[in-house]
Amino acid sequence: MRYGNLDGKVAIVTGSARGIGKASAQLLAEAGATAIITDINIEGARTAAREFASAGLKAGAFHLDVSSEASVKETLAEVYETYKSIDILVNNAGILDPAVSIPEMTQEKWDRMLAVNLRGMQFCSQHALPYMTKKPGGKIVNIASQAGQLGGFLAGVHYTAAKGGIIAVSKAYARYCAQFQINVNCICPGFMLTDMTRDRNDDPQIVPLKRLGTALDVAKAVYFLATDFSDYITGATIDINGGFYLR
Ligand SMILES: NC(=O)c1ccc[n+]([C@@H]2O[C@H](COP(=O)([O-])OP(=O)(O)OC[C@H]3O[C@@H](n4cnc5c(N)ncnc54)[C@H](O)[C@@H]3O)[C@@H](O)[C@H]2O)c1
Repeated sequence: MRYGNLDGKVAIVTGSARGIGKASAQLLAEAGATAIITDINIEGARTAAREFASAGLKAGAFHLDVSSEASVKETLAEVYETYKSIDILVNNAGILDPAVSIPEMTQEKWDRMLAVNLRGMQFCSQHALPYMTKKPGGKIVNIASQAGQLGGFLAGVHYTAAKGGIIAVSKAYARYCAQFQINVNCICPGFMLTDMTRDRNDDPQIVPLKRLGTALDVAKAVYFLATDFSDYITGATIDINGGFYLR
């Protein structure tokens, strides 16, 4: 393959025991990368890594709680010690707190959401950079949401704040990381059918393409942004929403 080959690259995907993270890790591994499956659910991560290995893909599983800076530092050090490189970071781990209306918001709910969905990407990126800057060509991909663009009518204001924050912080990282030839981009998925949203029974008819998105739909964009296909793209926000939100 002339472009898009990830042979020899080490790709960390946070929250990749299932869903969008797992689908992304799989596409990166199919392109040749060693997929580092990290999740707070270590059993799920190990199961995913075993599945990948039995399909002939290179994968490792590590416990990671993105809301804990200590866990982030420890896991990144362990991954680097094991694989001697970190080339790609996909900040995907996230939680959804079923729509909490503004009057119902509590400090506890707000802080937990921001700790996982926004602070997580900050500390994973900050602490991955000393490893990633050892050579040019690194890629950081951040998973935000159309909730951060639209005000999050199906998610709480705390989820909206975190996802809007990811869009903004991705641009700050893009500016900073350009000096290292590291690209940083952001993806805003729309109505995707995953374990996170299954109980919500979203109506596909509200989406112009008349279907809900899949984890694979997002993974394809992650792959594009994690490879040399995107070498001259940085600070961008890519919408994967079936045409629901047109900017
Ligand atoms: N599904 C959607 O419709 C949708 C839409 C827009 C954005 N997103 C975003 O995409 C990302 C993935 O969503 P998904 O639908 O695959 O969700 P999911 O719930 O299926 O998967 C999320 C994964 O993150 C892990 N995780 C949760 N907290 C963690 C923590 N503190 N540290 C490490 N891992 C943790 C979970 O164990 C799980 O494996 C999330 O950031 C989500 O906000 C999803």
